[in-house]
Amino acid sequence: MDKINFFPDSLNVQNQKIILRLDLNVPLKNKIITDDTRITLCLPFLKKLISKKAKIIIISHLGRPRGIREPSMSLVPIYKYLKEKLQTNVYFFMGNLDNDAKDKFSHLREGEVILIENIRFFKGEIDNDENFSKKLASLGDIYINDAFSCAHRKHSSIHKITKFVKKSFAGPLLKKEIDAINLVIKNKKEPVTCIIGGSKISTKINVITNLIERINNLIIVGAMANNFFVYKNFNVGNSLVENDTKQIIKNIYDKADRNNCKIIIPEDCVVGTSFEGKGSNKSLDKIKKNDIILDIGPNTINKVKQIIDISNTVLWNGPAGYFENKNFINGTMSIAQAISKNTIEKTLISVLGGGDTLAALNKCKNELSFSHLSTAGGAFLEYLEGKDLPGISVLK
Ligand code: 3PG
Repeated sequence: MDKINFFPDSLNVQNQKIILRLDLNVPLKNKIITDDTRITLCLPFLKKLISKKAKIIIISHLGRPRGIREPSMSLVPIYKYLKEKLQTNVYFFMGNLDNDAKDKFSHLREGEVILIENIRFFKGEIDNDENFSKKLASLGDIYINDAFSCAHRKHSSIHKITKFVKKSFAGPLLKKEIDAINLVIKNKKEPVTCIIGGSKISTKINVITNLIERINNLIIVGAMANNFFVYKNFNVGNSLVENDTKQIIKNIYDKADRNNCKIIIPEDCVVGTSFEGKGSNKSLDKIKKNDIILDIGPNTINKVKQIIDISNTVLWNGPAGYFENKNFINGTMSIAQAISKNTIEKTLISVLGGGDTLAALNKCKNELSFSHLSTAGGAFLEYLEGKDLPGISVLK
């Protein structure tokens, strides 16, 4: 297997323009960063490059604006954050990335940083457009991808840029993630339980289908489980559901049957009539028209805990409920605590990932311990599936 080209610490980057792809896709509420984990993890390497007197051009996305300038997804709050944390001049680039874009960065001096506005505001990014990738590559001398969480995206700033830039490397955060996940894959012991939460089944369908072949238990939580309730003909009131998922879910059950993988869905839940209000426990057959399912209920929590207790490997991606409101955080916290306890006391191998999962765990007051906490959601799951991620293949 080809080796990944990791950034060598000894490389002299003084006066070199480094295009640094980071994942600064952090949650925002009214333009305020509500969880800065992903940014703080990037800071040590950024500071190192500054001390090595490189000229640093940062690229990141935020949300999924799909080629339009959506003000709520601007990187301005992240720019302000970086300006406060880095002891150097930090600039923000809001212009167009046209043919003379690189001249616009010529003012950058050694040890200075420029952050480009949300790269997904540019249409060429998600199309992995050849011309756009060429323009991005022309901005610098060296490209470093330190955004493992985006490695599953075949986008210009992750993938095709490497075709045009002189040297490409993987950064230290990416290395840390891969090393940790490889270790888990190597040492993983059965029973293996995978807990998948979050809101959309359509975005995780391939991952779920492929993982079924490799795991013993699949626990579905979060709004994603609502689609399973609909499949089983339960009323879900005003809860979040996707259209036309019955066939998808049938396929999941069929494949799970063939592969001896048990699928566990919630048997009770906490409902509210709004996302901001309080909740009450209900069994699935008692959901009313105005109810919104916002967390898993106590019976489900107990069942999930029992499965965690008998598992030797647990992989978890996506919260169990609407953790942003403390009234609906109990399911997520209980799962986190059970995994942490088993990791400490029974040497459970545990890998947790995803921006939302990290944000939820940061709300926990107790100290938690896991084998590896990944910043990545989709990329982490696809890597676990054994897929060759496009953003990693190009760094080999
Ligand atoms: C993530 O949050 O998992 C990464 O930032 C990737 O975001 P994406 O799923 O919008 O590509």
